[in-house]
Order: sequence, then C-alpha cells, then structure tokens
Amino acid sequence: MFNFTYYTPTKVVFGRDTESQTGSLVKELGGTRVLLHYGGGSVVRSGLLDRVKASLAAAGVAYVELGGVVPNPRLSLVRQGIDLVRQEGVDFLLAVGGGSAIDSAKAIGYGAANEGDVWDFYEHTRQASACMPIGVVLTLSATGSEMSDSSVITNEDGWKKRGYNSSLCRPRFAVMNPQLTATLPDYQTACGCTDILMHTMERYFTSGGNMELTDSIAEALMRTVLKNARILKDDPQNYDARAEVMWAGSLSHNGLTGCGNDGGDFATHMLEHEMGGLYDVAHGAGLAAVWGSWARYVLDHCLPRFFRFAVNVMGVEPIADVKAAALQGIAAMESFFREIGMPTCFSELGITAAEEDLSLMAKKCAAATGGKKGSARVLTEPDMLAIYRMANH
Ligand code: NZQ
Ligand code: ZN
Repeated sequence: MFNFTYYTPTKVVFGRDTESQTGSLVKELGGTRVLLHYGGGSVVRSGLLDRVKASLAAAGVAYVELGGVVPNPRLSLVRQGIDLVRQEGVDFLLAVGGGSAIDSAKAIGYGAANEGDVWDFYEHTRQASACMPIGVVLTLSATGSEMSDSSVITNEDGWKKRGYNSSLCRPRFAVMNPQLTATLPDYQTACGCTDILMHTMERYFTSGGNMELTDSIAEALMRTVLKNARILKDDPQNYDARAEVMWAGSLSHNGLTGCGNDGGDFATHMLEHEMGGLYDVAHGAGLAAVWGSWARYVLDHCLPRFFRFAVNVMGVEPIADVKAAALQGIAAMESFFREIGMPTCFSELGITAAEEDLSLMAKKCAAATGGKKGSARVLTEPDMLAIYRMANH
C-alpha cells in the first residue's frame, strides 16, 4: 500500500431542484460578479440557464455570460473567457454543463489568475500558482470534473488535446441534480457511463500497492454503473438510476478509488486524448473503442487484477485457468459496451485510420506522456502504436 493524500474540498449539493441554491452558494463564497460559462445550447433549451440566472439574481449576484463551449473544449474560447473576466471584473466562475464547460472554466480560472500564456500549464512547461474560484451546475454524469483536479483543453494549433492537473482548480461547490441529465441523448448517457467506468478501471488495473478497501469500493462502483447504465438504456427517465450514475461519476474521479495505489494506469485515457484531438470523437466513445485492445495488450503483465475484475465485477466463473477467465472478463466488458451502443474498435467509432495517423497519434501520445505511460504495463511509443493498430479494424 502506498501513502496517499485525499483532498476533496468540493461541497456537493445533490438532489432534485438543487440548482435553485446556486445563487446562495456563490454568495456564501464571496462571489459578486459571475461568469456563466456553458456549451452549445442544451442548458438554454432545457430552461436550466434561466433558472440559474434567477437564482443568482435572487441572491443579488451579477453575471456575464460566455456560451459556446464545444466537446473537446478549445483554447481559443478559453482565451476569450480570460479577456472577458478581466474586462468585466468577474470574481467567480460558474460552469453550467458537462465536463467540457467545467474544464473550459478551469482553464479560464488559471489564465485569469496567473500572468503569461495559459497554454504553458497544459504543455507542462510551468505550474499555475492560483486559480479563480469555480462552481458547477452539472448536466452530464461522466468526467467527474465537478470534483476532480483535472482539466483537458484542445489547442486548435496542432490539434493538441492536453490535460493539466492541480488541486487549485477543484470546484468549490457542485450542484448535482440527477434530473438535469434526463434530457441527454442516449449516446451521451452511454459515453458518460463508459467514462465513469474507465476512471475507476484506470485506477484498478495497476501493478501493485492496492488496498483491499479501495478495491472493494471500486468494484462496487463499477457494478453499480453497469447495472444502472442498463436500466437507463431502457428507461432513460429513471431518476434513481440517474442519481446512482451521477454520484458514481464524482466518486470515480475525485481520488477515492485511487487511495493507496500507485496513481493508476491512465494509458487508455492518454491514448484516447490523441484520438479526441485528431478525430474530435466523444471522449467516452473513444475510450470504449480502444480499451479492449489495451486490455489484451497488457493482460499478461497484470493477470491477477484482470482475473479479480472478471470475477468480482463482470460475474465470470472463477475457473482454474486464470487467463481464460480474465479474457472472458474483457470480452464481457466489450459486450456491455456494445449493449449500450458504444464502439469497441475504430470502425465502430466511424474511423478508418491511415497508418500515418496511427503513427502520428502514437508519437504525440508518447510526447505528451514523457515517453512512457501506464502501471498495469508501462507503454512506450511502439506499444502505443501496437494498441492503435489492434483497435484499427
Ligand atoms: O454543449 P451542449 O449544448 O451543452 O451539449 C452537450 C454536448 O454536446 C451535451 N449535453 C450536456 N449536458 C446535456 C447535454 N445535452 C442534453 N442534455 C444535457 N443535460 O452533451 C455533449 C457533450 O458534453 P461534454 O461536456 O463535452 O461531455 P463530457 O462531460 O463527457 O466532457 C467531455 C470532456 O471532458 C474531458 C474529455 O476529454 C472531454 O474533453 N475530460 C475531463 C476530465 C476532467 N476534467 O476531470 C476527465 C475525463 O477523463 C475527460 O478527459
Ligand atoms: Zn475520462
């Protein structure tokens, strides 16, 4: 077991109609002038944005707006946000949306609170020393960004999708009303469930240092998501299933399922980031499309964990042939992905990648990870290329 620091400063306000508390939550934290940051219009169409504005007005909090965040949020809008914050004297950032709106707000928060170019942080050439305070009204259970220390931004110049991690950006509060996710297209719900599973799997498939309690929490979380994703497939309006998935999303990426381990694997995420950068695919779908190939590639290096996963999470019979059982577990997860409409290879994702694209992604992935990534098995550029090739069918 490794030492760990568990830091989750986000106040969670969970349940029906909780968005009506947004104004008082901002005020409690001393916010007087808010940047309302949101995406391409789902929060306008659902009426949520108006309810949030009414809540801010009722609390006497002023606001300016910046919508237009796209999935795989862009650096250019972040720069616009930083300028707006400075011009308007904004002192609090409020993201209303999914991971993209939240991550874009986090980047604006870094950019406005530090001198120099915000992209430096995402290139890891220097560290941020501060971030503006951020609140979240969550509309999509997926990334866990509402409690995480992470943000992921795409620079259109070179289509580089890069993440930056620091606890400075952890939201001060997260309003989580599961009902708000009921307007999601089924595809986005499925992408979200996949991302949540992946955030736990990334921390579960490691080469040591695991804690019994952490493993048990992780396994229960994964079983809960598998069960409730299936319920939502047939009954998308099911509030309790929405709630289970929403809370799982936050716990999956706030550090809880990594306590005592070595920091996790995260190679699948890094492989997906290059796919998101190059092909602009939905994050969850990209993860599903590459995970099975990654799993088979690293299996022999992490066999006991894959066996345990197969039995405790996927319900595989604990047969004596450990590898055969582990392979059944991988196949069961892939069949779950297909069941909820997720791809398990590039062609199902709508991509036929040319060999030079695969090489480019492997090169960029290796560069972004300092040459190697992973814990289940440490991958270098040739391994990354081999996994992309396996998934490219
Ligand atoms: O833009 P709008 O119109 O709001 O539509 C969005 C978008 O098209 C729509 N949507 C969101 N809530 C909705 C809704 N539509 C109807 N009803 C609702 N309630 O869903 C689409 C996807 O939204 P987006 O925010 O992009 O999705 P997600 O939450 O999956 O975020 C993905 C981004 O987060 C990054 C990903 O790489 C990707 O860039 N990640 C961030 C992490 C973090 N900060 O901790 C960790 C993750 O591993 C991930 O890398
Ligand atoms: Zn993710």
